[in-house]
Amino acid sequence: MDATLPLRDAISPAEASPASARLGEALSVAGIVHAYSGAPAVDDVSFDVPAGGVAAILGPSGCGKSTMLRIISGLVTPTAGVVRLGARDVTRMPARERRVGMVFQNYALFPHMTVRENVGYGLSGLKGPEKRAEVDKLLALVRLEKFADRLPRQMSGGQQQRVAVARALAPRPTLLLLDEPFAALDRALRADMQFEFLRLQRELGITTILVTHDQEEAQAVADRLIVMNAGKVEQAGSPSELYDRPRTLFVNTFVGQASVIKASVAAESETASTLRLSTGDEIHLPRRSGFMRGTNVVIAVRPEHVVLHEKPAPGAIPARRMMAVPQGPLRLHDLLLADGTPLKAAERRASGASDAPPGGTVHVTFELDHCRLYPSS
Ligand SMILES: Nc1ncnc2c1ncn2[C@@H]1O[C@H](COP(=O)(O)OP(=O)(O)OP(=O)(O)O)[C@@H](O)[C@H]1O
Ligand SMILES: [Mg+2]
Repeated sequence: MDATLPLRDAISPAEASPASARLGEALSVAGIVHAYSGAPAVDDVSFDVPAGGVAAILGPSGCGKSTMLRIISGLVTPTAGVVRLGARDVTRMPARERRVGMVFQNYALFPHMTVRENVGYGLSGLKGPEKRAEVDKLLALVRLEKFADRLPRQMSGGQQQRVAVARALAPRPTLLLLDEPFAALDRALRADMQFEFLRLQRELGITTILVTHDQEEAQAVADRLIVMNAGKVEQAGSPSELYDRPRTLFVNTFVGQASVIKASVAAESETASTLRLSTGDEIHLPRRSGFMRGTNVVIAVRPEHVVLHEKPAPGAIPARRMMAVPQGPLRLHDLLLADGTPLKAAERRASGASDAPPGGTVHVTFELDHCRLYPSS
C-alpha cells in the first residue's frame, strides 16, 4: 500500500460490492441545541453527511462530539433543532426505531456473553438456525469466525472492537456511529483497524460518523470533516478544503500543523500589504491583508511553507535552530524567532540545509500565498 495515500483512497472502490452500496441513508442535523442541566454542550450545530459517506467529528475534549452522537442516535433529545435520516424526521423518534448503530468508546460488550451472544443480541427478530447464520455472516464480515465462543475478556482490544462493530451492524442500521473507535488501540493496531473499518464501510455502504481527537485519523478515514469547538461547528468540508482553506485560526492549527506569528498591519493598499512581525521584521504580501493599517493580526504558516536558507537572503528572517527530527522523507525543524516565537519548518531530507547542528542560525522566508491571516484575539 502506498503510505502517502489516504487510507480511503488506498482501498479501491472495486473492492466494494456494488449490490450492497445501498444501505446508507443521508443524515442532516440542523440548528441542534442541547444543554445538560443548564450548561450548554452543543449550540446551533448543523451539518450534513451524504448517503454512504464517512464523516469525522473532530475537536478538543468537551466540545460536544459525544453529545452530538447521542442526539443522532436518539439517546438524548435535543432542546432545539432537527435530525433527519433520509426523508424521515427522527428528532423525537425512540432510539430503537431509528436504525442507527452505535459503537461506544469502551465497546460496551456484555462481559458474561460470548462473542456469538453479543452479536446476536441485536438480532431479536431472528431465532434458531436463521439467527446463527446471520451471526456467522456478521462474524465473517469482521473476520472473527473463529472467535464465536470466546468471552470478551479472552480477546484483544482490536478484536473486541470488531465484535462491537458486528453487534452494531446486526440490526442493519442505515447509519453507524462510532465514538473514538480506535482510541484505545496501539498505533500499529489502530492503522490495521482503520483499514479494516474502511473495507467494511465500502462493502456495506453504510453512512458512518466517527468521533475522534486525532486529526490524522480523521483525515485518513473520512471524506468529510466536521471540526467542533466549544459546542459549535467551526468548519465542515472535505479534508483538503479544511487543510487548504481553513476559515478560522482554530481550524488552521487543529487540522494539520501551523505556527502562529503575531504581527500588525503596517501598510495596506489595494494590491499589497506590509506586516510588521513581533520580531520587528517586515514581510510584504503581494495582496491586500484585508485588515486596516494598525490592526493586530496573527499569521498562520504551515511547516511546508517555511523556506530555509543557510545564508541571509532578501526578505529572510533569522531563526535559531532548536531541534530537527526526521519524519519520513522530511526533516522537521523546531526554530525560534528572535523574540522567542516558535516556528516549525519542514524540508526534504535531501537538501543540504538539513545537516547543520542544532543551535546555529538559519534564515527563513515564507511562501506568501500560503500565509493565512486572522484577527488577533
Ligand atoms: N451527562 C452529562 N451531564 C452534564 N454535563 C455533561 C454530560 N455529558 C457531557 N456533559 C458536558 O457537556 C460538554 C460536552 O461533552 P461531550 O461528552 O459531548 O464532549 P466530547 O467532545 O465528547 O469530549 P471528549 O473528547 O472528552 O469525549 C462537556 O462540557 C461535558 O462536561
Ligand atoms: Mg466524547
